[in-house]
Amino acid sequence: MNVDVLKSELLAEVSAATDLAGLDAARVAALGKKGKVTAAMKGLSGLAPEERKSAGQALNSVKDAVAAAIEARKAELEEAALEKQLQEDRLDMSLPVRPESRGKLHPISQTMDEVVAIFGAMGLSVREGPNIEDDFHNFGALNFAEEHPARQMMDTFYLQGEDGRADQNKVLRTHTSPVQVRTMQTEKPPIRIIAPGRTYRSDYDATHTPMFHQVEGLVIDTDITFGHLKGCLQEFCDAYFEVDHVPLRFRPSYFPFTEPSAEVDIGCSRKGGELKIGEGDDWMEILGCGMVHPNVLTNCGLDPEEYQGFAFGMGIERIAMLKYGIPDLRTFYDADIRWLKHYGFAPLEAASLERGLTP
Ligand code: DAH
Repeated sequence: MNVDVLKSELLAEVSAATDLAGLDAARVAALGKKGKVTAAMKGLSGLAPEERKSAGQALNSVKDAVAAAIEARKAELEEAALEKQLQEDRLDMSLPVRPESRGKLHPISQTMDEVVAIFGAMGLSVREGPNIEDDFHNFGALNFAEEHPARQMMDTFYLQGEDGRADQNKVLRTHTSPVQVRTMQTEKPPIRIIAPGRTYRSDYDATHTPMFHQVEGLVIDTDITFGHLKGCLQEFCDAYFEVDHVPLRFRPSYFPFTEPSAEVDIGCSRKGGELKIGEGDDWMEILGCGMVHPNVLTNCGLDPEEYQGFAFGMGIERIAMLKYGIPDLRTFYDADIRWLKHYGFAPLEAASLERGLTP
């Protein structure tokens, strides 16, 4: 038997393997139980001791060489297989989005995203609360007295408690202000949050729907003034309406949960029936705000001698209608695809201050 011939024959078979299955067949044919090297090893028993030793060493080195060649070839084949798969699986990320994706973002979602982006850049972060609230969070903690007319003013939807017990009655939250309460109860100042979400009142006409959206703002610390409130809202309005300096008017008002309270109007023009924000000498109300009432702080477990802050509440539909010229509130919830096509927004462009709010 010529060991060198055997070796080159086996190595040739290994390098001829073109895939992992072929390589394994070559391995079995060489080193397997019935393989050529194994058979040659068995043949050694007929040799004289000296001869057997040198032939055995030679065969062992063939075995090692073949095993090493198999490992090397295996690595080559695996790499080639991976490369082939990568080529076949390649995605062309520069291809346009499939033309049939025509979905649009609802103006409410778009407006919420814009509001979150603007206040987010100022350092306020988002909190949420339940839509079904109890009397304490929706009214009591917010300094609505038991028989306060404001409770009726809000056209509240009442839900019956378990077993009809009046003391367990819940309400659909009439505003996002209960999220203020929940945040102050669970977090330590400094607090800088906004709470966007759904709100409910029993009311329906061109400017009211039973479900609508608000965003609440709350900032609490040891040194917060009405000046901070004005600066915050000015910056918001400029960014949101994309106008250099929107004229703002703070009108004294009343809310049980703030003192002093104000309603904020933005300057606009209605010439020729067209609304333009930031010019002209008309005013349009957009939100309510004020300094958090000391009773509210106390009700939420904060010491009013140590902390104070401001809060505001704004209707999302209202500011969406103003910015995007949508005339009738009820159309927001008609689920009319033509309306959505007209007023909707590109779904893949998230609102961001850096890229311009509106895609
Ligand atoms: N919750 C009020 C409403 O729904 C809006 C509001 C006014 C919220 C003043 C506030 C605020 O936080 O300070 O009409």
